[in-house]
Order: sequence, then structure tokens, then C-alpha cells
Amino acid sequence: MHIILLGAPGTGKGTQSKFIAKKYKIPQISTGDILREHIELKDAIGKKILNILKNGELVSDDIVCNLIYKKINQKNCTKGFLLDGFPRTITQAKYISNLGIKIHFVFEFIVPDELIFQRISGRRIHIQSGRTYHIFFNPPKEEGKDDITKEQLIIREDDKIESIKNRLKHYKKNNNELTKYYLEENKLKKLKFFQVDGTKKPDIIKKEIETLIENKN
Ligand code: AP5
Repeated sequence: MHIILLGAPGTGKGTQSKFIAKKYKIPQISTGDILREHIELKDAIGKKILNILKNGELVSDDIVCNLIYKKINQKNCTKGFLLDGFPRTITQAKYISNLGIKIHFVFEFIVPDELIFQRISGRRIHIQSGRTYHIFFNPPKEEGKDDITKEQLIIREDDKIESIKNRLKHYKKNNNELTKYYLEENKLKKLKFFQVDGTKKPDIIKKEIETLIENKN
């Protein structure tokens, strides 16, 4: 099964990815996590993209498509994968379509801007695993610590107000074209595209997605 999650920053892509990946036993591929790993490693890609991420700009299609290509050709992706945060531009969407991989579901999370700012400003992450918490909406069992490893949680470099504004700006600039593209693919029955109300509680959203995937309704 191949699934794509679209949505503005802070709409819950990462949170729902974890649930879906576990339930359907497919790896979660988050371009944001991959890019942050390169930054942590301080390798050539990491150095190139450090300021791009920090400022909430988009990394070039070339870099991101190459990274995705490598990931989806790994052994653990033979039975499927979930793309979290890719594609973000029409070039990226066409890139994945042109690889000839059948995409089964595309979910787009819809959340108003005010809530996005609230969510991102309270977010804390465990950098090594990508696990995400929120100080009010999804607090860790022990304040400031990851539930599993008990390591320190951090605030993401790009979770500052100016970066959030930029990330939203880029999302809005590209999103109409992406939505149009997937609506058309849906119409042609190449895949199923659903817009999901991302303001509900994580558990409710999770159940709604499961229902849509398993076509229970
Ligand atoms: P990325 O890491 O993908 O960031 P993003 O898209 O901005 O999304 P976020 O991770 O901020 O939010 P999310 O939707 O995953 O929400 P989350 O579940 O964490 O990308 C970072 C950067 O990398 C980009 O800005 C760009 O520079 C670059 N990049 C990445 N992909 C790229 C690409 N394809 N092309 C070019 N550049 C690329 O939730 C947010 C908070 O809300 C959390 O605290 C969570 O606990 C809480 N929460 C989640 N769901 C709920 C809920 N239902 N109710 C209440 N709280 C909730």
C-alpha cells in the first residue's frame, strides 16, 4: 500500500503517519525527518540545507526527489510506504507518478491557520525517533522527556514564528496546484483522494482514516 499525506505545517501529518505506519506495517518516509538527519550529520546535503530549513523555505525538488528515490528503493519499502511531507510541489507530484508506482490513497489535512500556530508553538520533538508531542494537546508522560527513551525533547529550529509564516506561505503557494492534480487523479480513478478535518482529536482522525482505507462506510 502506498499512501501520501499532504497538509500545511502543524496539521498532524507526522502524528497520523506514526499511527498509519504501525497499523498497516509500512515504513513512514518523512522528508522533513530525512533532511533533519542530514543536518545532524553535518554532511554535504546537511550543510546545503541548514539555512533553508531554519528559514522555512523549500529545499530544491532535485535534492528532495533524489532522497525519496533512495528511500523508496530500500528493501523495507517493497510492501509499501507512507510519504509524509512529499510531494510539496507539482514537480515532486509528477516525479513520483512518473516512477510508475501506484499510489492508493492521498489524504490532505485541513486545519485553520490560528490552530496551526498554536500547535506548532507547543510542539516538542524527540529528534532521534521523530516522535512528536505537544505541551497541552499531547503531553509526554514526563515533562520534557521522550516516553520511550526518556531522552530530552527539543523545540525544532524552524518552529519559530517567522519560519512558520514562511512555511505556510510556501504551502499556500503550491497547494492549489497539488490539490487540483490529485482531484484529477481521483476523478480518473488512479487513486483515492480525501480531505480530512485535522481539527478533531488525533484518535478520531486515526479512526476516520482507517475507515476510509478499509472502505467501511
Ligand atoms: P516537515 O518536517 O515535513 O515539516 P512541516 O510540513 O512544516 O510539518 P510539521 O512537521 O511542522 O507538522 P505536521 O503536519 O507533521 O504536524 P505534527 O504531527 O508534528 O518539513 C520541514 C522542512 O523541511 C520544510 O519547511 C522544508 O524546508 C523541508 N522539506 C520537507 N519536505 C520537503 C519537500 N517535499 N520539498 C521541499 N522541502 C521540504 O503536529 C504538530 C503539533 O500538533 C504537534 O505538537 C502534535 O502533537 C500536535 N497535534 C497533531 N495532531 C493533533 C490533533 N489532531 N489535535 C491536537 N494536536 C495535534
